[in-house]
Amino acid sequence: MNRVFSGIQPSGVPTLGNYLGAIRNWVPLQHTAECLFCIVDMHAITQRQDPRELLANTREMAASLLACGLSPDRCVLFVQSHVAAHAQLAWVFNCIARLGWLNRMTQFKDKAGKDREAASTGLYVYPNLMAADILVYHATQVPVGDDQRQHLELANDIAEKFNHDYGVDFFPHVEPLIQGVAARVMSLRDGTRKMSKSDPSDQSRINLNDDSDTIANKIKRATTDADLLPDNLAALEGRAEARNLVGILAAVTGSTPEAVLAAHAGKGFGAFKPMLTDALVAHLGPIRAGMLRLLEDAPALDTALRLGAEKAEAMAEPILKRAYEIVGFLARR
Ligand code: TYM
Repeated sequence: MNRVFSGIQPSGVPTLGNYLGAIRNWVPLQHTAECLFCIVDMHAITQRQDPRELLANTREMAASLLACGLSPDRCVLFVQSHVAAHAQLAWVFNCIARLGWLNRMTQFKDKAGKDREAASTGLYVYPNLMAADILVYHATQVPVGDDQRQHLELANDIAEKFNHDYGVDFFPHVEPLIQGVAARVMSLRDGTRKMSKSDPSDQSRINLNDDSDTIANKIKRATTDADLLPDNLAALEGRAEARNLVGILAAVTGSTPEAVLAAHAGKGFGAFKPMLTDALVAHLGPIRAGMLRLLEDAPALDTALRLGAEKAEAMAEPILKRAYEIVGFLARR
């Protein structure tokens, strides 16, 4: 059976982008593969996090993943810092990955911004930790949004170099699963930037815990143009914001952008936006309600995460042990 691994940073409440690009695709995989889903708090601290907020966000992330349909009986749901093997293998990978490889990572460049000297070294080696997250379980399938593609290529470079340098066939090839019409959901304010939980403007995103009024308000204020909707996708070229809203409606209604345009050609955004709001409220309302319910019982959430960590630890342990042997570390006897 294929082993699936994916992760999400508790750097805020999950956005519609996280949901449509990743989480929603995780849910059905629980029934067909052995799945591990990880709240990657160690990745989150590569950029400054308020400790109290990080803690609250970690629980909130667990609640939202469960409310979206992940089940602790069907998948291993856990917190990254609970399983030391991630950091332990990441150190080995720090010694495998080359500076030149990391220098090419576009997400580092985006996140570090202009003042690269001031970025944390953790942010720089972040892709090595991400490779360790996956490979410490010998996972081969990684369901993610489009923005993670380059990091997964690097994970494969690391696995291949490890295998080559030590003359083994130990780490498997990792395959990205990038699915759906919403592999890249864009900001509501700027259709050229991706929707992100760390964007300073809350108006740029829909959060999974936004209530109906907040959703309505954000969609109403979303940047659009004055043109009408065309009847085909090619005609949306150069209209990034319009393309994004059409894609979101398609994703939440289980349709395609082509079908959305066929149904709504000739309408302006004054008519389109209320429909989009209704579809989002209908889809996200039950998730929000589930999340709020789960958050009322923090000890139950913590217990579910502990049990997840115990399962994950048991799966990682033999793989880390073998990796250490391959490297030549003396076994502790
Ligand atoms: P993160 O926390 O930024 O995002 C979690 C998942 O959501 C997807 N995503 C999006 N998809 C579509 N449109 C968007 N606007 C959008 N924003 C985010 C991301 O592609 C991702 O799948 N590095 C990862 C976390 C990670 C990980 C891993 C993932 C750590 N270790 C191992 C897979 C395997 C990240 O920062 O995701």
